[in-house]
Amino acid sequence: MLEIRNVYKTFNPGTVNEKTALDGLSLRLEEGDFVTVIGGNGAGKSTMLNAVAGTWPVDSGNILIDGIDVTRLPEHKRAKYLGRVFQDPMMGTAPNMQIAENLALAARRGDARTLKVGITRAELAEYREKLKELELGLEDRITAKVGLLSGGQRQALTLLMATLKKPRLLLLDEHTAALDPKTAAKVLELSDKIVAENKLTTLMVTHNMRDAIAHGNRLIMLSAGRVVLDIAGEEKKKLTVQDLLQRFSTASGEEFSNDRALLS
Ligand SMILES: Nc1ncnc2c1ncn2[C@@H]1O[C@H](COP(=O)(O)OP(=O)(O)OP(=O)(O)O)[C@@H](O)[C@H]1O
Ligand SMILES: [Mg+2]
Repeated sequence: MLEIRNVYKTFNPGTVNEKTALDGLSLRLEEGDFVTVIGGNGAGKSTMLNAVAGTWPVDSGNILIDGIDVTRLPEHKRAKYLGRVFQDPMMGTAPNMQIAENLALAARRGDARTLKVGITRAELAEYREKLKELELGLEDRITAKVGLLSGGQRQALTLLMATLKKPRLLLLDEHTAALDPKTAAKVLELSDKIVAENKLTTLMVTHNMRDAIAHGNRLIMLSAGRVVLDIAGEEKKKLTVQDLLQRFSTASGEEFSNDRALLS
């Protein structure tokens, strides 16, 4: 489903700010894999997702989605394969547009058709149904501007938009990190539900080790731009945070360092 083959990415090459963020990264996801991603600050987690999304070209290596080599495809041409939710609730939705209009745009992703065609009654009914499942009361605010929603409501809506047209791959980058603990738990639960219902292949970055263990069928840890741990199935279910920290230092030769991870 996703294959990252020996990918390198160095930012600001030849300057004092040179930083190799991906250092021969390889990762293969099977159809339906729900992989949680952890790693220290600057380990390359966001860079890995950006490389898959095509935010900028990688230096070398290949990225395949569904067997199609997308390495040279620009971001907008890969967008049809991908659903993305970022950490910042302000991203991913258009604040000056209504909830229904945002959903309609998401539904038309990759289509030549635009909103000028208008939103049909059938579509509105479908959106109401989907919004109801979020259990946030948004189904009664379908004409409200998205900018008026709370962070958690916006992340839930972004999640819905990212998956309205089933993506080949769902990329979640600490999408609950900016939310209060209760809202974060709710959005995470919702993510689980949407991933399971649509059998989505998913990469979810989190700084919360407990969440990384509790969600998904597979957990990887990045360090210095490579995968240093890859744990799946029964073994993953039995993991504890203590095991993870221990295995991280064995695998990388360093103490795990992620301020947010250790504080949470
Ligand atoms: N656009 C960019 N320009 C320059 N350097 C970058 C850029 N994006 C990432 N980096 C650098 O690449 C390294 C990896 O960053 P990345 O954002 O992938 O880390 P991360 O694992 O997501 O960390 P965090 O847990 O802090 O989110 C860091 O040293 C970062 O400063
Ligand atoms: Mg990051």
